[in-house]
Amino acid sequence: MLLGTMAFELAYAFCFLLMQLPFSTIAQTDGKNISLGSSLTALDNKSFWASPSGEFAFGFQEIGKYGFLLAIWFNKVPERTIVWSANGDNLVQKGSTVELTSAGQFRLSDITTGKQIWVASSYGTGVVYAAMLDTGNFVLANRNSIHLWASFDQPTDTILPTQTLSQNSRLFARYTASNYSRGRFQLTLESDGNLRLYTTLFPLDSINSPYWSTNIKDSGVELMFNQSGSIYLTASNGSILTMVSDEIVSMQDFYQRATLDYDGVFRHYVCPKSTGSSVRSWNMAWSTLSSKPKDICMSIFQDKCVGACGFNSICTQDQGPICQCPYGYTDMDPADVWKGCKPNFVPQSCGEASSPEAHLFYFAEMQNTNWPVTEYNYFQPATEDWCRQACLADCFCAVANYRDGQCWLKGSPLFNGRIEPGSGIKALIKVRNESSTLISGDRDSKKKDNSTLILVGSLLLSSSGFLNILLLLITYLLVSRMYCGRAKVIQPYLVMNLKYFTYEELEEATNGFKEELGRGAFATVFKGVLRSSDNGKYVAVKRLDNMVKDNELEFKAEISSIGKTNHKNLVQLLGFCNEGQHRILVYEFMSNGSLAGFLFGESMPNWYKRRQIALGIARGLLYLHEDCSSQIIHCDIKPQNILLDDSIGARISDFGLAKLLKMDQTHTTTGIRGTKGYVAPEWFKNFPITLKVDVYSYGILLLGIVCCRRNFEQQAEDEDQMILADWAYDCYEQKKLHLLFKNDDEAMEDMKTMEKYVMIAIWCIQEDPSLRPTTKKLTLMLEGTVEVSIPPNPSSFTSSIM
Ligand SMILES: *[C@@H]1O[C@H](CO)[C@@H](O)[C@H](O)[C@H]1NC(C)=O
Ligand SMILES: *[C@@H]1O[C@H](CO)[C@@H](O)[C@H](O)[C@H]1NC(C)=O
Ligand SMILES: *[C@@H]1O[C@H](CO)[C@@H](O)[C@H](O)[C@H]1NC(C)=O
Ligand SMILES: *[C@@H]1O[C@H](CO)[C@@H](O)[C@H](O)[C@H]1NC(C)=O
Ligand SMILES: *[C@@H]1O[C@H](CO)[C@@H](O)[C@H](O)[C@H]1NC(C)=O
Ligand SMILES: *[C@@H]1O[C@H](CO)[C@@H](O)[C@H](O)[C@H]1NC(C)=O
Repeated sequence: MLLGTMAFELAYAFCFLLMQLPFSTIAQTDGKNISLGSSLTALDNKSFWASPSGEFAFGFQEIGKYGFLLAIWFNKVPERTIVWSANGDNLVQKGSTVELTSAGQFRLSDITTGKQIWVASSYGTGVVYAAMLDTGNFVLANRNSIHLWASFDQPTDTILPTQTLSQNSRLFARYTASNYSRGRFQLTLESDGNLRLYTTLFPLDSINSPYWSTNIKDSGVELMFNQSGSIYLTASNGSILTMVSDEIVSMQDFYQRATLDYDGVFRHYVCPKSTGSSVRSWNMAWSTLSSKPKDICMSIFQDKCVGACGFNSICTQDQGPICQCPYGYTDMDPADVWKGCKPNFVPQSCGEASSPEAHLFYFAEMQNTNWPVTEYNYFQPATEDWCRQACLADCFCAVANYRDGQCWLKGSPLFNGRIEPGSGIKALIKVRNESSTLISGDRDSKKKDNSTLILVGSLLLSSSGFLNILLLLITYLLVSRMYCGRAKVIQPYLVMNLKYFTYEELEEATNGFKEELGRGAFATVFKGVLRSSDNGKYVAVKRLDNMVKDNELEFKAEISSIGKTNHKNLVQLLGFCNEGQHRILVYEFMSNGSLAGFLFGESMPNWYKRRQIALGIARGLLYLHEDCSSQIIHCDIKPQNILLDDSIGARISDFGLAKLLKMDQTHTTTGIRGTKGYVAPEWFKNFPITLKVDVYSYGILLLGIVCCRRNFEQQAEDEDQMILADWAYDCYEQKKLHLLFKNDDEAMEDMKTMEKYVMIAIWCIQEDPSLRPTTKKLTLMLEGTVEVSIPPNPSSFTSSIM
């Protein structure tokens, strides 16, 4: 309200008063008058003026350690929800004051600088009091109780019932949930009468193209939030043009607000009031009644800005956008996911050779993942393999998207990334081969991680100056990384890039569950083939027979945590069926059977291949254990659960099922009681189950891979040789390792590596879980980056403690 003369101003004020009459924000509700000369000092969260009902308060809120915010908040809701603020960009320090001067000026000054930070502006003279109203409106009024200034006219990111937005007013989203600085999204009621949501050219306020609009032809004049909770646009004659939120909510029973949240979604929230005894304070939380847009990941997609999430990030729609980094990438700033993701590896160099370093990269695949409108190159027709080669050979390429003979190459930084369920678009994310183990943070040790330091140190010694700087930078980022993963954006109920199958579809795909591939204590696996509309692939259909939980949400939560995994050493879950009693998982089909068949079959597989497999399994485990979004303990690592893909690559299967199944059943070992199976000893004792149970099982598995035999062999030549784990330690201790590999010429030639692998395995099968290496260290030892020291007797723990 920039008004010229005093007369006009008064006339306007009267007019305003008349408009507001039905909601009576005048004299009688201005319960407690705040008189001229009053002030508030920022000392704690208790410096405020409350409205007569006590439901709203105006005053200072302490924002972490950063300072104080002058704000209006819901004062009876346990999490004091801020609905308006004066100085989000410019917090003041403790001791600062807001003052209603004797001249009727209302201003906030900072104590440290003495500077005026904010002033209620654009009103004339004549203020005689201020008041915090029960509607949540803070007003400055003259002697006739006419509001000369109102917080309702200067909204920040929220509107409240009885508040209206007039043409050209705007709401700005805050920066993050707890940073009240102006953020990246804006809501405007424009002069053409439409309400629109925009991304801004952050940090500027200028706007991009809208991502949501009311799309009406008649000119809307006002956005109304009426007392029963309807939000709508009205024409100049007062008739309703379009509803924005049309839930009917009782003002007596609920608090309400509509906020343009920091994630770009405009949400209508309600929270039950604690009247009488019906609602206890712990039930008092905000829930969403409606949101605009419905799916922000699909709504924001622009060629200038970064989409609904940051650069290189991938957006999934749940209650709002969930931003995740692609495989091989991590957050720039875990506290602010919109800053985007950075690769964990040194990107491909564009050196002299025609396709430098191409051999050092591989692709992580993500189904139904797309970065639309960001390609720098497009090819058609192309096979997927051609597309992969094209991206590998091109140092600009960070990701290739592929679908039906079409190949899009995309460079860094990637933007607009999102999951597009059912689109069939595959993302091939180019990742440096060796880097995953180099960079991924170690959960177990927030302390200094020696292995990483050793690794980085040795690389530093051996590489060129430029690389050194990059590595130093990465090391710095690594060390400075405080938290693993994103700031709590993963929601449990989401089922991401998974296809939902009906039971009928799967019955058809498996030809009536005909061809059985395997059967376990809790599941039966069938071979199937998908319809050609689902690309006609072979699949493995796993029917779970023995579920602990029939809770739908928990099932979905588990499935979604499995569905989010993506690694070349894991069997990819493609979809699931959850219909009536049926719980079925659909996996990619592994053509080369299980590791058990491979190792213990007719002919002894080649030692080099076995080493690759051992390394592959360790990398898969490392991913499960240290992938930040959801740490997965496998709990059942054994040769039957390692499958082999077309190129005899190791793929871990059945991960994430532990929680879904009756573990105690799967753990009444199939071997003989009292012998060492694949199951860690803590299962039989009252010890906590940690990631180290998988390390134990891996150790037993590794011995099996090295020696090409089962852990328990009844027909062993000698009784001492029946249990591989015991025999291997004896051989190692007595320096008679050659006995272990008697029939393996290749292995005998590579005795040093064999010995090292046996030593690693012995470390893994230590009875004391704390002596076993972390999965990270295990991988580094297998790769040869970290020295393997002499292992103690695995059972020394038992004998000394029990
Ligand atoms: C607040 O001040 C106005 C103007 O002086 C007066 O009319 C009104 O009665 C006062 N209200 C209360 C509750 O003191
Ligand atoms: C005030 O509230 C904020 C947020 O709830 C909190 O971080 C801060 O520690 C509180 N300050 C005091 C002095 O209680
Ligand atoms: C809020 O975010 C802005 C933009 O990144 C930053 O400049 C400011 O320091 C942040 N404020 C607080 C209190 O963290
Ligand atoms: C609010 O608007 C809705 C929709 O037009 C209407 O049904 C309701 O009666 C209105 N409530 C009030 C208190 O005006
Ligand atoms: C109000 O205006 C709209 C269009 O601006 C028109 O369709 C409607 O008939 C008008 N209603 C009344 C009661 O005049
Ligand atoms: C790196 O990737 C290439 C191509 O996929 C593969 O042949 C090679 O074995 C990989 N190296 C390692 C150590 O994984």
